[in-house]
Amino acid sequence: MTKTSPRILLSSEEVQARIRELGSQIDRDYPTGTLYLIAILKGACFFLADLARAIQRSVRIDFIGTSSYGKGKSSSGEVKLTKDLDISIEGADVLIVEDIIDTGVTLNYLIHVLQQRRPRSIRIAALLDKPSRRLRPVDVAYTGFQIPDEFVVGYGLDYAEEYRNLPDICVLEE
Ligand code: IMP
Ligand code: MG
Repeated sequence: MTKTSPRILLSSEEVQARIRELGSQIDRDYPTGTLYLIAILKGACFFLADLARAIQRSVRIDFIGTSSYGKGKSSSGEVKLTKDLDISIEGADVLIVEDIIDTGVTLNYLIHVLQQRRPRSIRIAALLDKPSRRLRPVDVAYTGFQIPDEFVVGYGLDYAEEYRNLPDICVLEE
């Protein structure tokens, strides 16, 4: 693929405004108590950092690593855990924080794995969703933006580990 400059799909201002709305909604929805925010490495780290600060209640954060995508743009269709949680989530209200849902394979697998650890509740917050690409069902409680089937980078999202530090969410064109 030749490198052209990425086209902005969602500006950093639009992203930040939407995350503030999601934070308020999450504060309203949950009963009092600590909310466990679990981010999926590495792409969701930027979203986690901003979402956590948009939530008023007490939160704990942790990270989980999965691999399904190689260096390219298409999924291998298989998921494995590359890094497990450091904390127990038994009896906790858990919110999985993900950058983007594409086929749904990753989250369908992770929900299954984490549910076996008996959290009190488990929901998903995804900044971006490409519903047209879904192969496995995923119930997403909080969605930032639904986007068309285009490959996006920036704000944590990569192509072959590059572009994560772009402040805006951009479409990578051929
Ligand atoms: P899924 O298992 O197909 O839903 O894939 C989810 C993962 O694929 C995300 O966590 C991303 O790491 C990656 N991914 C899917 N679509 C894109 C994209 O447009 N840009 C960058 N990464 C993507
Ligand atoms: Mg990811």
